Amino acid sequence: MKNNPKASSQEALEESRLQRHLELSQVGIDFPTPKGPFTALQDVNLKIAKGEFVSLIGHSGCGKSTVLNIVAGLHQASSGGVILDNQEVNAPGPERAVVFQNHSLLPWLSVYKNVELAVKQTRQGRNKAEIKEWVQHNLDLVHMTHAADKLPSEISGGMKQRVGIARALSMEPKVLLMDEPFGALDALTRAHLQDSVMEIHASLGNTVIMITHDVDEAVLLSDRIVMMTNGPAATIGEILEVDLERPRNRLEMADNLKYNQYRHAVLTFLYEKQKKIETVGAAKSDLSKGKMSKKKSSAA
Ligand SMILES: Nc1ncnc2c1ncn2[C@@H]1O[C@H](COP(=O)(O)OP(=O)(O)OP(=O)(O)O)[C@@H](O)[C@H]1O
Ligand SMILES: [Mg+2]
Repeated sequence: MKNNPKASSQEALEESRLQRHLELSQVGIDFPTPKGPFTALQDVNLKIAKGEFVSLIGHSGCGKSTVLNIVAGLHQASSGGVILDNQEVNAPGPERAVVFQNHSLLPWLSVYKNVELAVKQTRQGRNKAEIKEWVQHNLDLVHMTHAADKLPSEISGGMKQRVGIARALSMEPKVLLMDEPFGALDALTRAHLQDSVMEIHASLGNTVIMITHDVDEAVLLSDRIVMMTNGPAATIGEILEVDLERPRNRLEMADNLKYNQYRHAVLTFLYEKQKKIETVGAAKSDLSKGKMSKKKSSAA
């Protein structure tokens, strides 16, 4: 799909979305709080194609992690639901692997053992040699074979994040869920890891949902950027199709007119249409001017 001509690749994605690989329907969630239920999300509807790379972007606190956690099965939606390949999602499962921002490696296990643990849990029935080969293959994918015997405390933040990605990939998930996977990294490390993720996505074709605050990262990596309104009762405000040929090169993108138009569209959404994050009242008055006025509730 990735190497097809642009038009047919877009059509293939559109067709695949209709085949309902991953679908969020009318998803809403109320969290109990001392002041009563807090509606964090409302009416979130999204169809994602197999192999599609989707970014979620929106201001802090709008509900991005909550969406991801519902798809991961870590939170249960209060209304609506998530379907993955005709099965309702209501618990965590190895077909939906999560990479968290703060690389959650087990500190007492080596890099190798951290990945091996995930492999042993998800690939029962494999013999020792097969497990070893698979762990090494996944460490190779993220260029971490050289540090296989090191402990997490002996490697850098970027390397830990690579191991987290290897661990998730080793589970051969249908869907890779990443919550700000590069948020804590310096710009150069971040760029290297973004390139690795693009290469891996091109070769494995996993479906990916990634949360990011970084507009350039969203445009560079995504097939679509899902932009969320500010909460409470946050929902999807706009969806931007990123019609840029792959493989994408960050240096070439800097001069690419379409790339810059996409960037501009996301920035406009975040800093004009959804700029007032502090005061809900102001956000509502902004919304009433634009096309996102459809769904704000009084759930404050
Ligand atoms: N367990 C919970 N109980 C009550 N409220 C919660 C709970 N989890 C999240 N929330 C609220 O739901 C809203 C969405 O939170 P969420 O963590 O999804 O935001 P986010 O978009 O991921 O933010 P950030 O970009 O800062 O990570 C926030 O207002 C948050 O306070
Ligand atoms: Mg979050």
